[in-house]
Amino acid sequence: MNKLLTLAALIYTLLPPSLLAQDNVDLRNGKDVNEVCAGCHGEFGQGGKDGEYPRIAGQPEAYIVKQMHLFRERKLDNMAMLEYVNPRDFPEADVYDVSAYIAQIELLTQLPPIDESKEFDPLARLQLAKRLLNIPRTEQGDPEKGRITYNKECRSCHGVDGWGKKADGDAPMLAGQHTKYLLRQVDKYRQGLRKHDESDPVELLTLFSDEELMDIFAFLATVDDVQ
Ligand code: HEC
Ligand code: HEC
Repeated sequence: MNKLLTLAALIYTLLPPSLLAQDNVDLRNGKDVNEVCAGCHGEFGQGGKDGEYPRIAGQPEAYIVKQMHLFRERKLDNMAMLEYVNPRDFPEADVYDVSAYIAQIELLTQLPPIDESKEFDPLARLQLAKRLLNIPRTEQGDPEKGRITYNKECRSCHGVDGWGKKADGDAPMLAGQHTKYLLRQVDKYRQGLRKHDESDPVELLTLFSDEELMDIFAFLATVDDVQ
């Protein structure tokens, strides 16, 4: 029995830290680490500056972890984040903690009505407003055409109405994301800087015209609109 335990302990210590870290994320540490991220992505991961900084709140945890690894290992260029994600200052446990923390942040698409029966709390209202993100409709593109193309070509991975699929989640949400940021990523995929599918020599987004993609993004910008 003792021998078995020793063996188990040995196997445990030999496992790569990435596997160990996954099971016991520390959300409090994640919140602390997020203070660095907040400088650009906002306190609630809502992004900003019209998509210069993407929304990261609520993205699938596995997706955030993957992007952090790509940035840290310089497989994906991110000049802005370069100094924040070097391996020395950013241990593996922090990657998992901050990713889990950001993945569980929920943003609002509209402010709740003011409750007249209670005393108005301006500070609480301000905090709520910071968690508000509603993507403005695009000037170009046809949302109705985009909806049809999206459902045929993108939905199987990016989920119903572009909200991502948390369960098997390595495809990010595209709804609730800043349109300019998404358009920048299309360029990166088409230039081969990012890859939709490592094993497929043909990049998916090269198979669509600019117009078709603009229709899709026009559709995605409508799905968070208040009904
Ligand atoms: C100095 C500004 C800055 C800081 C600090 C920063 N980021 Fe970023 N981050 C960016 C920019 C800019 C991009 C988008 C780059 C692009 O356009 O491709 C980005 C992209 C990302 C993405 C990819 C989003 C997506 O949808 O693919 C993730 C995930 C991310 N950052 C997480 C983090 C985390 C976690 C931290 C804190 C540890 C952090 N960032 C700190 C500027 C920053
Ligand atoms: C087979 C599954 C699959 C399909 C189909 C698919 N995607 Fe993706 N998409 C992914 C995955 C996985 C990623 C993340 C890849 C990475 O790490 O860069 C992604 C990432 C993206 C991103 C970057 C998002 C971000 O936050 O940085 C955009 C934009 C995108 N896809 C657009 C589309 C569009 C538009 C379609 C339909 C025409 C589509 N995708 C179809 C799986 C898919």
